[in-house]
Amino acid sequence: MKRSEINQYIREAEAFLAANKFKLPPYAAWTLEQWKEHKAKGDIESIIDCGLGWDVTDFGFEDYMKIGLFLFTIRNGVQHSEKYPKPYAEKIMIVREKQVTPFHYHRFKMEDIINRGGGRLAFRLYNSTPDNKLADTPVTIYRDGVKYVIPAGEVFDIGNGESVTLTQGVFHEFWGVEGTGLVMVGEVSVVNDDHNDNIFLEAPKRFPSIEEDEAPYRLLCSDYDKFLK
Ligand SMILES: [Fe+2]
Repeated sequence: MKRSEINQYIREAEAFLAANKFKLPPYAAWTLEQWKEHKAKGDIESIIDCGLGWDVTDFGFEDYMKIGLFLFTIRNGVQHSEKYPKPYAEKIMIVREKQVTPFHYHRFKMEDIINRGGGRLAFRLYNSTPDNKLADTPVTIYRDGVKYVIPAGEVFDIGNGESVTLTQGVFHEFWGVEGTGLVMVGEVSVVNDDHNDNIFLEAPKRFPSIEEDEAPYRLLCSDYDKFLK
C-alpha cells in the first residue's frame, strides 16, 4: 500500500468515527514529533508493546478496496506476559461495502464482532479442519446470546447494535453489505496477538507492505519499530 493511500483512509476514518460520535484516545491524534517526545520520555512502552493504535491492512493482496480492513486497537495486553497481563482487547474497525476481510480463524482468541453503526455487516463461517481447510460441518454461533446452528458457509448479516460471538477455530470472513454504506464495527475479545494468532486460509499476511511516497499522517501500530527506533 502507498503511505499516501493509508493517510487518506485515516483522514476518512477520523471523519466517519466523529460523525458516528465514536471518540478515540488522545494518542490517536499524535503527530510523529509527539510520538518521538513520548518515546524519549519512556512512557509509551505499553502502547507500543501491546500494539495499540491505527492499523490499516490489505492482507498482502494489494487491492484494499476489495480485500482489506481498517482498525484501531483501543486496548490490549500481551498473552502470557507478566508485564502486560490485561486479558482483554477492544478494537474499532471500519468495513466498506463489499470489502472483504478474508477467511481466518484464531487458535487462542475468542471475539465478539459488533455492528456499532453505519451499514450492515455480512459474515460467512466454516469450522476448520485439522489441516486448516474449510470443514463442511454445521457451525454453532451465538448472536447476542441466542444460539444458532447454521450450515457451513451460509451468509447472514447483522444490523446496528447486533453482534456475533466467534469461537476459536471457526473460519470467518466478513464484508459490508452493498448499498448500506461504511460499517462501524466493534470488536471485544480476549487478548489479541495479530503476529501469531491469525490462521489465514489464503491471505499472504496480516500487515501490508508500505511504499513511503509521503510522510505518515498518523503512525500505524506496525510503524512503531520503523519510526521510533
Ligand atoms: Fe477474527
